[in-house]
Amino acid sequence: MLSNEANQEITRVGRGTPAGELLRRYWQPIAAEAELTDDSPKLRIRALGEDMVLFRDGEGRLGLVEEQCCHRSASLYYGFVEQDGLRCPYHGWKFDCAGNCIDQPFEPSDSPLKKEAHQHSYPVQALGGMIWAYMGPLPAPLLPRWEQLLRADGVRKVFILPVIECNWLQIMENSCDPAHTYYLHAHTLTLKDKGKSGAYYYRPIEKLHFELVDEPNWVGVRKQRVYGGDKAEEEDGHPVIFPNLLLSPQREHIVMHMRLAVDDTHTKIFRYQFTPNDSGDLVTQPNLVPCENVPPLKDETGAYHMNSFASHDAMAWETQGSITDRSRELLGNTDVGIALYRRLLREQIRCVQEGKEPKGVIRDPALNDCIRIHVSTGQRRMAREMAKA
Ligand code: FES
Ligand SMILES: [Fe+2]
Repeated sequence: MLSNEANQEITRVGRGTPAGELLRRYWQPIAAEAELTDDSPKLRIRALGEDMVLFRDGEGRLGLVEEQCCHRSASLYYGFVEQDGLRCPYHGWKFDCAGNCIDQPFEPSDSPLKKEAHQHSYPVQALGGMIWAYMGPLPAPLLPRWEQLLRADGVRKVFILPVIECNWLQIMENSCDPAHTYYLHAHTLTLKDKGKSGAYYYRPIEKLHFELVDEPNWVGVRKQRVYGGDKAEEEDGHPVIFPNLLLSPQREHIVMHMRLAVDDTHTKIFRYQFTPNDSGDLVTQPNLVPCENVPPLKDETGAYHMNSFASHDAMAWETQGSITDRSRELLGNTDVGIALYRRLLREQIRCVQEGKEPKGVIRDPALNDCIRIHVSTGQRRMAREMAKA
């Protein structure tokens, strides 16, 4: 149970808020690279309550600048992408990827205004088919090189969920809660005669283990289920990676769920899927990782259709309220992971407030060659068995 004040502290994401300042110390997943096309090399991005425009200039460089032009505040989203920058649609001032003003038509060529007209911008990088932004104090740390973004012995795909209408922390807390899979996913699907896709989770949970992981290049909460019944199994577990990633085995895939806090009450989720092949052979990778929008999670009446894991989870997250009231919760034994995550979150908030580097921020290249994290293989084994049956 948390007071309203404590709840505000760990949920709000705007600039200057405790959690917002913490999240700004980590690279944020803002788009799939395939969302920027030749026909439309720009995207409107809202992240941590800030409105920006992401663009790829004619030279292939990425830029992320504040959406409102520093001249007289028109939206640069409607601007023209050119060889060396983005030109404002209103009076044509042009900005390069770092936000420098490089052209001011109709102003005297020797005007000092050009130097003054800097468009606020953030560092941005592409890796593994995703585009990441760093919105914190400079110098930026290294962009983490997660193994799933780098491996070549399989195929990748990015799925983009419809924007979730609630605070990011509800989604992260759900990822620390391995007990929800039995009823929310497996039982629901079984009652709908779709039990096959939830079969892995339709087993009695005898025990749950939670572990706070503190590695030099990542921290998080690892969860393990011990299943009983006639298909007893002790999982190796899988982790929430602090602050906003979940690494999870799903059937034959290894999925990294990347959560972007759009603002206090909206979250964008990228389901980043890597499917290793059985042979271990290297696969020629496409230039761009394909991406696909996940269909609506609700039916035409506005009710959750509850036919997919994503619809189930969205129901649970959103019906808690846009920012859930944690003063009325009753945490039990299955919520130990949530308590661990919250403690980590509060400690790291303090760390930033004291001017220190929070955990999981990487600055040493030796720690960032390729970050490997083991996850359970039971889901993959069961998917294989089912495919054979
Ligand atoms: S508002 Fe952008 S150039 Fe005038
Ligand atoms: Fe779930």
